[in-house]
Amino acid sequence: MKYISTKVCKTSDIGVNGNLFGGAMLSWLDEAGASFASYLCCTPNMITLKMEEVIFKKPVKMGHHVRIYGEVKHVGKSSISLLINANRFNFYTNLEETVCSTKMTFVKIDDEGNPIAIGEELKEKILREAKS
Ligand SMILES: CC(C)(COP(=O)(O)OP(=O)(O)OC[C@H]1O[C@@H](n2cnc3c(N)ncnc32)[C@H](O)[C@@H]1OP(=O)(O)O)[C@@H](O)C(=O)NCCC(=O)NCCS
Repeated sequence: MKYISTKVCKTSDIGVNGNLFGGAMLSWLDEAGASFASYLCCTPNMITLKMEEVIFKKPVKMGHHVRIYGEVKHVGKSSISLLINANRFNFYTNLEETVCSTKMTFVKIDDEGNPIAIGEELKEKILREAKS
């Protein structure tokens, strides 16, 4: 999987149980997925169509770093589907563990918000690089 970004769990991200608020994590996954999709498709005009099931397997605590990774699963005419993984990283133990993962789909849109083609040449390049 390709490294996308790191988020630091701050006091303001904590929910009522002392763990990272789930909605904050969803927002981080969406932001990371959208930025990776935009990078791959060479455009800022990628919109989130779908986020699949997210199961929060491990709690994230204040001060944990959350490292987000992505992998291309499918490239269609206007859409790209990515597997997005969020791992918590503890600097003191050097341990990186999966917190959650999900499949997300992004669509390339035009100025009116309608789907447009990613393009065959770029699609082949994305798939070629995903395999290497
Ligand atoms: C994304 C959006 C532009 C797509 O428009 P649409 O009219 O549904 O588009 P289409 O039916 O032509 O589908 C576009 C692509 O999405 C794919 N798609 C549609 N529904 C899908 C689904 N349930 N699961 C996976 N892919 C899906 C289609 O297969 C197509 O992919 P392809 O071109 O690679 O073959 C439109 O749904 C939209 O604006 N949604 C709101 C997005 C948004 O605001 N997101 C922010 C979060 S609220």
